Amino acid sequence: MRVTSSPFSPNQIWNHFLCNAAAAVLVAGGFIAIYINKAERSKPHFTTWHGQVGLAISIAIVAQSAASSILLLAPERLHKILGVKGTKQFKLIHRYSALVVYLVTFVEIFLSFYTNWWNRLVGEETWALFSALTAFTLLTVVVQVWCSVGWEAISSPHWNVG
Ligand code: HEM
Repeated sequence: MRVTSSPFSPNQIWNHFLCNAAAAVLVAGGFIAIYINKAERSKPHFTTWHGQVGLAISIAIVAQSAASSILLLAPERLHKILGVKGTKQFKLIHRYSALVVYLVTFVEIFLSFYTNWWNRLVGEETWALFSALTAFTLLTVVVQVWCSVGWEAISSPHWNVG
């Protein structure tokens, strides 16, 4: 099936942009806060899986948001910089990379549940509750996106969003 029209209104796309821009700012702020906090206490950085994946995913979230903002706000500039016509391929890359960033973000949250700090703070029941709520959030969004557009639309370069 060749999908050519977007199921989303310009207003929804604008809200999606605003929410993701705000998320990128919060992630950058959170990252700087953790980094300064550790530096002030002379603690080593990025020594755990959670710390290392956290560094990578913080950069990826900000990069995904910045690149997608150019795609939405100044597509002509992207054509000029990269010397290509049309944004179809970029929109496809945007969808795939967003999927990877989303899934790795949840891997990162699950890794945080194995930090010494979290395990000192919570008992077994709270641990299980937070893990279940996180899994529920992960699945809710995946199911919602799947049901509203389906994999065929996500993977089609002809699906024109925005
Ligand atoms: C997507 C969400 C998250 C991101 C991107 C993230 C990112 C990071 C990064 C980059 C570090 C390493 C900082 C450094 O070494 O200078 C770190 C450390 C830490 N984070 Fe997170 N974090 C997230 C969620 C959480 C959550 C939900 C918790 C608590 C349950 C948590 C608890 C901790 C703790 C205790 C440390 C210090 C120990 C360590 O370096 O592994 N984080 N985080």
